[in-house]
Amino acid sequence: MLSQVDNDILTRVGADLPMGRLLRQYWIPFLLASDLPEPNSDPLRVRLLGEDLIAFRDTTGRIGLLANHCPHRGASLFFGRNEEAGLRCVYHGWKFDVDGTCLDMPNEPPESDFKDKVRVLAYPCVERAGVIWTYMGSVKPLPALPDLEWALVPDDQRYLSLRVQECNWVQSLEGAIDASHSNFLHSALKKKDAPPALFGEMTQGAVYRDRDPHPHFETLTHAHGVLVAARRDAEPDTYYWRINQFLMPFYTVFPPTGGDPPCSGHMWVPIDDNNTLVWHFTYHPRRPLSEPELHAMRYGRNGQDAFHAALDRFRAPLARAYGGLHPDRARSNDYLLDRQLQRTRQFFGVVGGWAQDAAVQESMGAIYARWQEHLGSSDVGIIAVRRYLIDAAREFVEGHAAPPGAADPHGYCARPAALLLGRDASWADAAKDALKGHPGESLVVV
Ligand code: FES
Ligand SMILES: [Fe+2]
Repeated sequence: MLSQVDNDILTRVGADLPMGRLLRQYWIPFLLASDLPEPNSDPLRVRLLGEDLIAFRDTTGRIGLLANHCPHRGASLFFGRNEEAGLRCVYHGWKFDVDGTCLDMPNEPPESDFKDKVRVLAYPCVERAGVIWTYMGSVKPLPALPDLEWALVPDDQRYLSLRVQECNWVQSLEGAIDASHSNFLHSALKKKDAPPALFGEMTQGAVYRDRDPHPHFETLTHAHGVLVAARRDAEPDTYYWRINQFLMPFYTVFPPTGGDPPCSGHMWVPIDDNNTLVWHFTYHPRRPLSEPELHAMRYGRNGQDAFHAALDRFRAPLARAYGGLHPDRARSNDYLLDRQLQRTRQFFGVVGGWAQDAAVQESMGAIYARWQEHLGSSDVGIIAVRRYLIDAAREFVEGHAAPPGAADPHGYCARPAALLLGRDASWADAAKDALKGHPGESLVVV
């Protein structure tokens, strides 16, 4: 349970609020590079941390992210003309470059210097690993991008997908560190209907996972986030440990359940207090993703799009930021819940693992009133991550501490782990090396 005050600190992302100020100290992934494929691409609406913005790629290939409202009289720059090295507002023709400098003010007298006094808010952008990132903070020079392992591997070793989830970003993130829900929400009623491993054959570890619905949880905080370890009984002298990583401020990775598999995780980017841009990433640290793997991620397998939402199951685009990223299963249609499927085969009759997550997380309300909850022993990971985020925000705004991890990109090169250990072994010691990223080397997964 959290107090109302802490719940507000945790969830709200406005620029003048503690968490909003903290989040602005980190690079934010906000578009695929292919969304702005070439210099004359159409400008795009973006909304991040409650701010309406317009992204464009200028004629020289540079990417700009400007305030939506033109500083003259507020028309949206979304309608702008992408002209020589700048975006020109269609209302009176003011033109801005990617840095926010006003290049031209054609409705003012030529001798006027007014254009030198007006700027539009602009955030710096960089491309890495097929993703466009922006930095909305004030630290100069700009911090380095985080060395997330998925972003360090060649392009053919990764797949990324996006969708909008209509609830707060922390509520979404909490689902990724709550490792006991998969025994219920994502399970089948009969063994023969059990969802297959995302990739490859199920490991022995997955068998241990599936037969023990009440793991014992332990956590470990560190300079970049929190390790959340779930322990299950394996053999009489061993435990099966699955270790998820939370990395500041919104990254999560979880261990796979197949042999030599790709690794997957999420980035939970706040669009505003009530909506989340959910990134799903899958990468193999050593080899290109295969065609069958890519096909399963793009279109699902056996009628189920387990982790990535199927590309051909999105609704018609809406005229708003991320308006093309609303999947077909949504609150407005009860996620196409199939009660017959729920009676006969699946624990929950919504099709698609991500959709099952979205349904329950959105059903909690846009921002869940955490002072009404009743946390049990399976929630210690959630408690640790919340506490970490709240403390980081408080200490940052009070001037006591820097944003955890923001100045140390190398600490982001991390992995999840799944290990079989003797009953008296320390998971934190035993997993130390397995939890470090090693681009070029396979994950070790039991
Ligand atoms: S409102 Fe943009 S130029 Fe006037
Ligand atoms: Fe889930």
